[in-house]
Amino acid sequence: MRPKISVIGAGNVGASLAQCLAVKNIANIVLLDIVEGLPQGKALDLQESAPVSGFNSIITGTNNYEDTAKSDVVIVTSGVVRKPGMSRDDLVKINAGIVADVTRNIVKYSPDCVIIIVTNPVDTMTYLALKTSGFPKNRVVGLSGVLDSARLSSFIAMELDVPMTEVNSYALGEHGQNMVIIARFATVNGQPITNLMSQAAIDKLIERTVNGGAEIVGLLKTGSAFYAPAASAARMAEAIIMDKKEILPCAAYLEGEYSLDDVVIGVPVKLGKDGIEEIVSFKLKEEEFEALKKSSDAVRALINTLGKI
Ligand code: APR
Repeated sequence: MRPKISVIGAGNVGASLAQCLAVKNIANIVLLDIVEGLPQGKALDLQESAPVSGFNSIITGTNNYEDTAKSDVVIVTSGVVRKPGMSRDDLVKINAGIVADVTRNIVKYSPDCVIIIVTNPVDTMTYLALKTSGFPKNRVVGLSGVLDSARLSSFIAMELDVPMTEVNSYALGEHGQNMVIIARFATVNGQPITNLMSQAAIDKLIERTVNGGAEIVGLLKTGSAFYAPAASAARMAEAIIMDKKEILPCAAYLEGEYSLDDVVIGVPVKLGKDGIEEIVSFKLKEEEFEALKKSSDAVRALINTLGKI
């Protein structure tokens, strides 16, 4: 039987994600939203692209969680994006309500799945989904570093005029202002960027990456980024469905790794059929550890605003 991936939320990220997954031809896809007709219309439109795009995945649009039953992977994109005048705390409260409700439905219909959280603020929402689900910690993972690293790698490629695919980088820590980017981990064909550009140039690219989401919001004016988030979440889902054991930076629950405890934050993980199969230990310098700790304090402060879960 074909694997099954459900995408919760058929908005900008959810719909783009369904398309990214469909063209990979690795699973049947269910697209769910609370708005009637929206997931059905987008699913049918996507299905009709199959003969020309060359995939055989079956795409189903629905408002009913029964259709998501027995999914191998469920990706949560449902939520609101921050609007002018809305505080970060307001956003957390609204999205926490949505993510908790969605998680309970996922558990009911797909008790053995791996959950990927995309909804922001993602580190906090991943923590909430893990605690709400009662799943083991390996089966709840958040999208953070894959996206942030993709942004950084694309900026490096543009700056050095090298092919996008020759650049590799790792963004760790919070998916937000306290992101931790360690320049020596960014390489072009194995060469650290610290050998290829000045510190001032590197600092500029790091700053642009940290503000990568805001840059897109500023341009779009209504809504936030969706192509890169969708492609990044699709890569994570593929690593799980295809049991690729890829090492990717993702938001993961830590219990002592990197000397951090009871918090979700971006670290390198091995992604395979069981979800997070290993938290990979990168050798960090003292100041890098400190940056990660500071980043985790920021996430912890946001988690604390959730109250008792
Ligand atoms: N159940 C299912 N779907 C829901 C629910 C719910 N309880 N609440 C909202 N939705 C749906 C909305 O109807 C909408 O179609 O979630 C979708 C969100 O889509 P967009 O508003 O287009 O937002 P999008 O750009 O896709 O971002 C979604 O991903 O990257 C993050 O920060 C982003 O948290 C945001 C999320």
